[in-house]
Amino acid sequence: MTTTPSSKDRLIFALDVPDKSEAQRMVKLLQDSVGCFKVGLELFVREGPDILKLIKDHSSAEIFLDLKLHDIPATVRGALRSAAKLGVKYITIHSTEGEAILETSKEVKDSGLEVLAVTILTSMGETQLHDLGSNLKVGDVVLDRAFRARQSGCNGIICSGEEISSVKQKCGDTFKVVVPGIRPEWSQIASDDQKRIATPRKAIQAGADLIVVGRPIRDAVDPEKAARKIVAEIEESVKQ
Ligand code: C5P
Repeated sequence: MTTTPSSKDRLIFALDVPDKSEAQRMVKLLQDSVGCFKVGLELFVREGPDILKLIKDHSSAEIFLDLKLHDIPATVRGALRSAAKLGVKYITIHSTEGEAILETSKEVKDSGLEVLAVTILTSMGETQLHDLGSNLKVGDVVLDRAFRARQSGCNGIICSGEEISSVKQKCGDTFKVVVPGIRPEWSQIASDDQKRIATPRKAIQAGADLIVVGRPIRDAVDPEKAARKIVAEIEESVKQ
């Protein structure tokens, strides 16, 4: 039986902080306001798996280990086996190399660890893709990678707010769509590197299962208030 997640459970906070003392401060502050903490490269490279224990000691939220694994299949398979022992809910792998890497997700099938494939980073727009020599449209590439990820056994993908509805249409409703590049109307991020952005409302209404928010919460004057505002926006968007 599938249960509908609460609005809070649909908010993932990107714990993009330099070390464990700052991580502990943010986890304590936000433990009641977000459903999941995302540990990325900055924190994991510095603190290692101990950081996951710290989060578990201070909160009952899920943990998303966003390592964006990108290597030969045997290495990614090994990394997934190791990650499955860490008690995290989500992990990311890259989708650029096609099925050979996407199929590594089968290694941890039924372990409780969900593998999400990164399609095209939300910091990439059409111009950046063309600068790399591709004439393809971002939306078409995302859709193709999403479909391959689904066929290869991944649990879901990461894409921007712009591709959610086409991915849901092609890959089905149970295939998880997780969306970073979220910018509430009230947020102001200096020198923002995100290109394909969406508000929480737009992402949820388009069918995002989960949204990832970092700087709009982390850099807010009152991070807890910012997280609660986003949860309220998710709640309203579900009702509309
Ligand atoms: O601060 P901001 O809200 O832009 O944070 C977004 C988070 O989502 C970052 O931790 C980034 O690594 C992650 N992410 C992303 N685009 C992807 C996958 C993950 O921005 N395609």
